[in-house]
Amino acid sequence: MSQIVEEIRALKEQKDAVILAHYYVNDEVQELADYIGDSYYLAKLATEVTQKTIVFCGVSFMGESAKILNPEKTVLMPDAAADCPMAHMADVDKIKKVKEEYEDVAVVCYVNSTAELKAHSDVCVTSSNALKIVRALPNKRIYFIPDENLGRYIASKVPEKEFIFNDGFCHVHTSISLENVKKAKEAKPEAKVLVHPECKLEILKEADYIGSTSGIIDYATASDAKEFIICTEMGVLYELQQKNPDKKFYSVGHRQYCPNMKKISPEKVRNVLMTGENEVVLEETMRVRAKEPLVRMLQLAR
Ligand code: 13P
Ligand code: SF4
Repeated sequence: MSQIVEEIRALKEQKDAVILAHYYVNDEVQELADYIGDSYYLAKLATEVTQKTIVFCGVSFMGESAKILNPEKTVLMPDAAADCPMAHMADVDKIKKVKEEYEDVAVVCYVNSTAELKAHSDVCVTSSNALKIVRALPNKRIYFIPDENLGRYIASKVPEKEFIFNDGFCHVHTSISLENVKKAKEAKPEAKVLVHPECKLEILKEADYIGSTSGIIDYATASDAKEFIICTEMGVLYELQQKNPDKKFYSVGHRQYCPNMKKISPEKVRNVLMTGENEVVLEETMRVRAKEPLVRMLQLAR
């Protein structure tokens, strides 16, 4: 075991801490984490772990969700600047306007959103449970924030509901081009195409499977196929390869890279464990309001 991993292990004991990591962070961080997973799994897990401190190896909205759900715990972010740009791509005034205009609307908020946006929403969703939750809602009209691509994908599966979309997007997933996917398919005609629903609709049409990061990993692991074209952030390759050493995984270009997720390093994990820096702190009224849609998500996703 390397020295830094040993130091982190000792600090975890000393501080009663647990390390959670998203599949997009650097391999060496996934390696040292106690748990790795998709956004839904990590949010749910944050309510179940017994340690006093959670070190969240991911972007801000993930740490915020952990804190919203567990105010009594200390949540530390290895890099306070690791933020998801899409989390900011919706507007509270616009939410208020839509609610005024349509009394029956449900504001469905993708977890990739700020605590403030959650505080003005009715229910949260992740890519792994959005379909189930939107179907379960009694409301016919849905205002889906902030991701337009995920919203349109869910809408295509739930034609009985009326959707209002918002123009947020993930720069990593929308940079995956149809041209590159077609080239990858031509080069590897036997390969299955696995796509995250933050990709554009034209990419989703090329997919053999559409799902969250965990969904993609589970699909590839259960599949008899030996080759896969991966249309999401390349951090998932670590777990894909761990679970499937005999299978091959291909990217569709060089831009499937989330610069914010990649800010997390073992050194930064050690630093926050040592210093207690970068603690997630939320204004209490907002936290309480933001908790409701997250708890509703956990209940409806069960
Ligand atoms: P998952 O919920 O599929 O892990 O996705 C999180 C994310 O940030 C996708 O860009
Ligand atoms: Fe945000 Fe996209 Fe990075 Fe996911 S991959 S954290 S949606 S910028």
